[in-house]
Amino acid sequence: MTENNKNLSKEKLLAEIGRLKKELKKKKKYGLVWEEKPEEVVEVCKEKLPVLKEVKNKEIITDKDKPVNLLIEGDNYHALSVLNYTHNKKVDVIYIDPPYNTGNKDFIFNDRYVDKEDAYRHSKWLAFMEKRLKLAKNLLKDTGIIFISIDDNEVAQLKMLMDNPDLFGENNFLATICWQSTDTLRNDAKHFSVNSEYILVYAKNKSACKIKGILKSEKQKNYYKNYDNDPRGHYLLTPLHAKSGTPASLYEYKFKSGQIWQAPKGTFPRFSKETLKKLEKEGRIWLDPKCVKVPQRKTYLAEVSERMPIWTFWRYEDFGSTRQSNQELSELLNKGIFSNPKPTKLVKIIIDLIIDKKGIVLDFFAGSGTTGHAVLELNKEDGGNRKFVLCTNNENNNGNGYKIAEDICYPRIKKVIEGYKNLKGEKVAGLGGNLKYFKTDFVDAEPTDRNKIKLTAEATEMLCVKEGTFEKVLDRKDFKIFKNTSHYTGIIFEQAAIPAFKKAIKNIKGTPPHQKFGGGGKFSVYVFSLGDETFDDEFKDIKQKVQFSPIPEAILRVYRRIFK
Ligand SMILES: C[S@@+](CC[C@H](N)C(=O)[O-])C[C@H]1O[C@@H](n2cnc3c(N)ncnc32)[C@H](O)[C@@H]1O
Repeated sequence: MTENNKNLSKEKLLAEIGRLKKELKKKKKYGLVWEEKPEEVVEVCKEKLPVLKEVKNKEIITDKDKPVNLLIEGDNYHALSVLNYTHNKKVDVIYIDPPYNTGNKDFIFNDRYVDKEDAYRHSKWLAFMEKRLKLAKNLLKDTGIIFISIDDNEVAQLKMLMDNPDLFGENNFLATICWQSTDTLRNDAKHFSVNSEYILVYAKNKSACKIKGILKSEKQKNYYKNYDNDPRGHYLLTPLHAKSGTPASLYEYKFKSGQIWQAPKGTFPRFSKETLKKLEKEGRIWLDPKCVKVPQRKTYLAEVSERMPIWTFWRYEDFGSTRQSNQELSELLNKGIFSNPKPTKLVKIIIDLIIDKKGIVLDFFAGSGTTGHAVLELNKEDGGNRKFVLCTNNENNNGNGYKIAEDICYPRIKKVIEGYKNLKGEKVAGLGGNLKYFKTDFVDAEPTDRNKIKLTAEATEMLCVKEGTFEKVLDRKDFKIFKNTSHYTGIIFEQAAIPAFKKAIKNIKGTPPHQKFGGGGKFSVYVFSLGDETFDDEFKDIKQKVQFSPIPEAILRVYRRIFK
């Protein structure tokens, strides 16, 4: 009881209690509640800021004109934080296959496996996933889509979590795919022999996203025939009637041949009379009763989309099974090195549902690197330039002595790019591609001048990742210049070096003031500043062609937002 209502009469007190009860009721909301457990890797970011450090000797470059893919080793909370600066709204597709939290040594929280008896088992998983999914959402383009593999252990929790408007929201839910993950019956199963998993699919913004669908298979194309040597090619015959409609839509139609058509009893015309007339005029109606008894509509293969919508039930024959993916990885690396990777086929179809030949694909639970493998295969098949960003920790895989990033993911991607001999001793040709390997590292977070200078010095790799410019053009102590095939990046560590920097870029062909970039991009320049200066005066003469950012302020701004 508060000091204010101490002297209230009994009636007034009851009325007050009633009012408070009503207030409380109003506050009850539908949703998911869990116990928030602090996570060490998250707490660390209060004192330290994540950056990237390249592991130079792990770089793989087979074609300088092709995009550079990234593998980031470290906790994905840190990797995603860095990506919030480098890849904000740049990612087209996210595919993740997080720990399923089976209670069987697959989920590590605060350096310890979460087992079945842990009373906070679901809370820990939810807290872990929520933090990462929040960071990941910022990386998606407005048209971007996320696919999350999951099984019975957490599917209910994950669906509720994702439906939360603070994350993706119910309105952006697209599908729950049911993947038939295994083709073997478990005779020892106690209740059911489970042979399916799920893939939850959410759009960042449902009204902006597009699912391309899958390419029609040869089998589907074979349904199109050409019975009468029609010069327009193969076609599909479909009835002129449908099961639903209204009595008002019924009519009788007389074809030019004299044949009379009306919808069979209990059905309705699929088209209006006018449309049917038009279809007949254009020769799109099949009338020969020798082959098909009633008139049919002709739909030409050449006129329909090459793709079609995809089912939400995915059979192992079409998408691969866990048995097949275990086999696939065993042939690439050692047998049993990593259990139950996802089939490359499955991830290829997911990527191909969303993007064409270019775009960025992110997997922040990369494990054995299936998503990278899928992107490399798709690029090889159609000459595409899709890029991948993989993040994985380097934990000792199930205690078998192999470290996931170094001994499993990286060697797999390297072999796939460069070619290898499989376990049968057969040569498998490389698919080509480029990769840079980074580890997450830290600098002190306290915003002192000393720390700002340090962060700037350590930020070079992050800035190159942000710009996608990895080729060194000039490497001086006070400034550096990098490029890719269409774009330059300058990083100036001391303001006193600005005149020398400007002189240097004038001497580089294709840069300001004679800049003619293929991609139309500006020369990105990062200038060290203790504050938030824009250096308008210093770059007045080339302002139109140069895009400035003060560092480390531009980075700190992002970190302040995500670690608030
Ligand atoms: C189920 S596996 C993914 C398998 C992958 N889809 C494949 O086909 O190989 C999940 C992976 O996430 C990694 N992982 C788990 N927690 C992580 C974390 N906090 N940061 C980075 N990686 C993590 C684990 O090392 C594990 O390899």
